[in-house]
Amino acid sequence: MRGRLRYADPLVSFLDDNLSPLRWHDDALLLLDQRLLPGEEMWLSLSRYEDVCTAIRELAVRGAPAIGCAAAYGVALGARQAGTSMARVYAELAATRPTAVNLFWALDRMRGVAQTADTLLAEALAIQAEDLRACRTLGALGAPLLPDGGILTHCNAGALATGGYGTALGVIRAAVAQGRAIRVFADETRPVLQGARLTAWELQRSGIDVTVITDGMAAHLMATGEINGVVVGADRIAKNGDTANKIGTYSVALAAAAHGLPLLVAAPWSTVDLACDSGAEIPIEERVADEVTHHGGRRLVPEGVRVRNPAFDVTPARYITAIITELGIVRPPFVESLALGKEKR
Ligand code: MRU
Repeated sequence: MRGRLRYADPLVSFLDDNLSPLRWHDDALLLLDQRLLPGEEMWLSLSRYEDVCTAIRELAVRGAPAIGCAAAYGVALGARQAGTSMARVYAELAATRPTAVNLFWALDRMRGVAQTADTLLAEALAIQAEDLRACRTLGALGAPLLPDGGILTHCNAGALATGGYGTALGVIRAAVAQGRAIRVFADETRPVLQGARLTAWELQRSGIDVTVITDGMAAHLMATGEINGVVVGADRIAKNGDTANKIGTYSVALAAAAHGLPLLVAAPWSTVDLACDSGAEIPIEERVADEVTHHGGRRLVPEGVRVRNPAFDVTPARYITAIITELGIVRPPFVESLALGKEKR
C-alpha cells in the first residue's frame, strides 16, 4: 500500500470536532492507519482505488460505516485514474469484505449518480457527512437508554469505525456529555483486539473513563454488579432484527440476558438490510488463521493445529432490547418496527 505518512498538517488530526478517521485532502484519501494504534498515529495518503481495497482488507480502515465511507472515496479515486474501468473499481471494492452491508450500500449510492470524477467525489463527501450526522443524532437519541454505572462495549464501534463520532461510543459520548456517570468496560475483542487497542485509545483521548477486560471476564463482572448494561455496534441488521457484529457479541448478549441486563445495538440506518430476512442470510467473513495463531509476530498456537477465525457472529433479535438508529429507537417486534423505519426513510 502506498503513501504512509505522519501527517503534520494540523487540519488532519483525529481529535478535531468530528473525531473522524478518514478525510479527503489535497486530492487524496487520508486514513488513520488503525493497524498501528495505539502505538503510532500514522495517516495513509491514498490516491489509487487499489490501495483503498488493500486498506479495507487489511483493517487499516475498519468498522461498518467507515468501510462504506472509504469505499465511496475509493470509487471517487478510481474515476480519477486514467484508463481505469469503473466496473472493475466497483467489483474490486465490493470483494474486500463481505459482512458489513454499509460497503454495498455505499457502492450502490455511488452507482446511482453521474459517473464523473466531480460528482462521485461530491457523493463520497456527502456519504461521510451524513454518517457523521447520523452518529450524532443516534447518540443523542440513545443516551437516555443507557443505565448509569458500568457499560460494556465489544469491539470498536466508535469514531474510528464511522465517518466520525461513533455509534455505540456515540451513545456513550452523548451520555457523558450530559453529565451522566458512565464507566465503560471495553472487551479486548480477540483476535484483532479492536477493544483493547482502539476503543481504549479513542475513549482515553476523549477523557472518558474506560477499563479494558479480556473477553472472558464480562459475565463475571455482570454477576458482581459492575456491568449494568451493554451497547454495541452492528455490521448488518436483518429484517427480523437479528444482528451481525464482531465475533463474541453473541456471547455478550447471552450473558446480558442471563443477568437481566439491557443489550442495546446502535447503528445508522445504512446498516439495516431489509433484503436479509434473518441472520441466517448474513454472510460471515472468515479471516486468515494468522490472526488467531499469532500475536505481535509471535506464534501462540502450536504449528499444525487447526484454527477457526469467523470475524462476526449473529445475535438473535430476542436478546436485543432496542436498536438505536438516527431515525428513532427501534423496539421488538423488530419486523414491524424496522419496516416502519423504511417508510420514514
Ligand atoms: O472487523 P471490524 O473491526 O471491521 O469489525 C467492526 C465491528 O464489528 C463493529 O462493531 C461494527 O462494524 C460496528 S462499527 C460502528
